[in-house]
Amino acid sequence: MEHTGIVRDEVAGERHAAAWDNLIGLGGQKNQLLAWAALALRAATLDRTATAVNRLAAIEGPPGTGKTTLARNLCAPLGDLCAAPVRVIEFAAHEAMSSEHGRTQREVHRVLTEVVPGLSNGQPTVFVVDEVESLAMHPGAVSLEANPVDVHRTTDAVLTALDLLADLSPNIITVVTTNFPDLVDAALRSRADVTISVPLPTAEAIADILRSTLAAWAAEFPGLKTLVDHHSISTAAKELASAHIDARQARKFVLDVLSSDLSTAADPGSLTATALVSAARDRRGGR
Ligand SMILES: Nc1ncnc2c1ncn2[C@@H]1O[C@H](COP(=O)(O)OP(=O)(O)O)[C@@H](O)[C@H]1O
Ligand SMILES: [Mg+2]
Repeated sequence: MEHTGIVRDEVAGERHAAAWDNLIGLGGQKNQLLAWAALALRAATLDRTATAVNRLAAIEGPPGTGKTTLARNLCAPLGDLCAAPVRVIEFAAHEAMSSEHGRTQREVHRVLTEVVPGLSNGQPTVFVVDEVESLAMHPGAVSLEANPVDVHRTTDAVLTALDLLADLSPNIITVVTTNFPDLVDAALRSRADVTISVPLPTAEAIADILRSTLAAWAAEFPGLKTLVDHHSISTAAKELASAHIDARQARKFVLDVLSSDLSTAADPGSLTATALVSAARDRRGGR
């Protein structure tokens, strides 16, 4: 796979199912994505111009909220729903980039219309284009100071190739993610069957993420088990929600607290609820 930008080609398995299940507070988004995906695959044999099904979904929202994880692991619940093995193929747009603009567009076109259909081999496939805006951000294509019209045009070129892919390969559904919906808004929204917004986690979701993370740590350090069900978790979570942290930061918060003190680093099981809440207060205070 030399320089094609294909960074993933897998068949759904346990790991995908676990990663999907570990996404917390996204029940609505999971259902929306899964329902669309199942329908899009079933609409495969229908006329695209008549049904208006483009087999393209967009996931947008702030960084660290689970967009990439949703896209990469959709294959697991989709496989269960369709009772068929589902593939996931991922394209890292920036890896197929050349500093010469025209070459990049030709390469992207070749990957989407030849390489990906070849790899999918007729199997039901989720094709992921993560951070689709990175195409528009490439210095050889346009710079950050560039005319927004050029930015849209570059993204448009990819979406046009995706249209072709949809015509060529009814077994493939495409999920693109973006941290910057404003950059790709017009181009994406006009083609995507669904646009799924992933927000920052609520206080309840943060509490559940803390519990799930502590439970994982407790497998090695049993002293942490009492913290998992401790009432102060929701207090800490409210503080963290006021600090507008994302879900990735919420997962990492336990590590941050453990590693901020030599005694808990040496003996993680000794972490107290008080220390956890106080660290959350500090975070809100910007310390
Ligand atoms: N909703 C969530 N629930 C639990 N953990 C999450 C959630 N969203 C993100 N994470 C954690 O953050 C990491 C990065 O998430 P990712 O899917 O890359 O976010 P994004 O693509 O929105 O930047 C995940 O591996 C996971 O550990
Ligand atoms: Mg991402």
